[in-house]
Amino acid sequence: MKVLMVCLGNICRSPLAEGILQKKIDERGLEATVDSAGTAAYHVGEMPDRRSIDIANKHGIDISHQSARQFEMNDFKRFDKIYAMDKHNYDDLAAMARDPLERHKVEMILNVIEPKGNRSVPDPYYGGKDGFINVYNMLDEATEVIADMIEKESNKG
Ligand code: 4NP
Repeated sequence: MKVLMVCLGNICRSPLAEGILQKKIDERGLEATVDSAGTAAYHVGEMPDRRSIDIANKHGIDISHQSARQFEMNDFKRFDKIYAMDKHNYDDLAAMARDPLERHKVEMILNVIEPKGNRSVPDPYYGGKDGFINVYNMLDEATEVIADMIEKESNKG
């Protein structure tokens, strides 16, 4: 199972989603790959936002090695599931998909908690620290469900 987390800049939300899910994969000993990307190129090559690094650190997760990259068309082939953080990211990805198979790989991440709820993980970039705490908690809950799904999938053999 290969999972890609996608937000706008790949410096705030999706690096956290990647780091939190990676920790759950490691702790459970699952066979899965997780990566993240942004729909935009503004921050390519940068490390995650300091506020994302800090909130991850507080939970024993190091995301400081990550480097922002832009989503590329080949990601539709490389990954089994592509989780968009918000409606904008979802719409951008859905518009780029070349066929129904690619389109069906794309889902809003909070829909794993509330199917068809279409809730967005709010962009915390221009806010304060509380926004990052909120984002962390949302992503922790969603990635727990994703880890459960990966575990179920791997038990099917
Ligand atoms: P992210 O947050 O999409 O969660 O990485 C943002 C990062 C940068 C910008 C917007 C959102 N920006 O406008 O530069």
